[in-house]
Amino acid sequence: MEIKKVGICGLGLMGSGIAELASKAGIDVVACEVNDKFLEKGMGRINKSLGRAVEKGKLDEAGKTAILGRINATTDYKALADCDLVIEAIIESFEEKKKLYQMLDGIVKKDAIFASNTSSLSITEMGATTERAEQFCGLHFFNPVPVMKLVEVVKTVATSDATFEAAKAFGEKVGKVVVSCNDTPGFVVNRLLVPYLLDAIRALESGVATKEDIDNGMKLGCGHPMGPLELTDFVGLDTTYFIAEILFAEFKQHHYAAPPLLKAMVMAGYLGRKSGRGFYDYRK
Ligand code: CAA
Repeated sequence: MEIKKVGICGLGLMGSGIAELASKAGIDVVACEVNDKFLEKGMGRINKSLGRAVEKGKLDEAGKTAILGRINATTDYKALADCDLVIEAIIESFEEKKKLYQMLDGIVKKDAIFASNTSSLSITEMGATTERAEQFCGLHFFNPVPVMKLVEVVKTVATSDATFEAAKAFGEKVGKVVVSCNDTPGFVVNRLLVPYLLDAIRALESGVATKEDIDNGMKLGCGHPMGPLELTDFVGLDTTYFIAEILFAEFKQHHYAAPPLLKAMVMAGYLGRKSGRGFYDYRK
């Protein structure tokens, strides 16, 4: 099945990035949020990102208008009815996602595919809450979505080959390199990334080096664009903690266990860039 019209549920950081990408690729987009405030915020983010591309001469004003014109931003979920693919990018709560999928099942045409952008919840379990587990998969994008070149396409034991192929073709059409993987906690990237971030926090916690030296070590010694503590701030300490808890619950291995310092910082509201404070201070 070729994806000609895509629905995005949730216009946060990830959803707005996915909507922008899809529209840029010439695909019609229905972008849904629960209220006008979140909708405006999400569309504002897309506008800003496209504005930056215009300033840099990568896009002209007509191109920007066309991309925005392909996005139907709405709070009416019925507008998703004729989408070929609906990507869910709402908060990482299984209960909230379940409620959304059950509503979508009654609205969206029966042959449409559902995909979750979750970074850690079980795709299999989500698919099982719908009447279309064969047409259910994961499409996991990376932040910032317009910049990071990867999408993980995640298959469950129930995902049909046709669904998987259509999801991979969609990922390629929006300009990403596709990594295929089976539904397992963390998929490929977070399974490897999160223990690395946790180890960096453990190194800081045990006084191996300062945060700046840990970050510079990995940036300059290994060519990473950000050091691990800077990256944890970027991903969000709460998100990192949440993923670590899921990985640890599944594998019961020490390197997935959240260090006490991470837990303490999350409890104190030091969530990284989004809260103005994490390992570094962003309040200035
Ligand atoms: N939206 C659109 N474009 C953006 C952007 C955004 N939010 N942020 C940066 N860019 C663009 C800039 O416009 C710039 O484009 P040009 O090169 O065409 O001029 C380019 O990205 C580089 O940006 P900057 O020069 O401003 O900054 P930088 O060189 O320091 O790069 C970065 C910023 C791209 C974020 C880089 O630091 C980086 O790659 N960091 C690592 C990010 C990463 O690892 N992300 C994955 C996190 S894990 C995850 O997402 C999965 C999960 O489930 C937790």
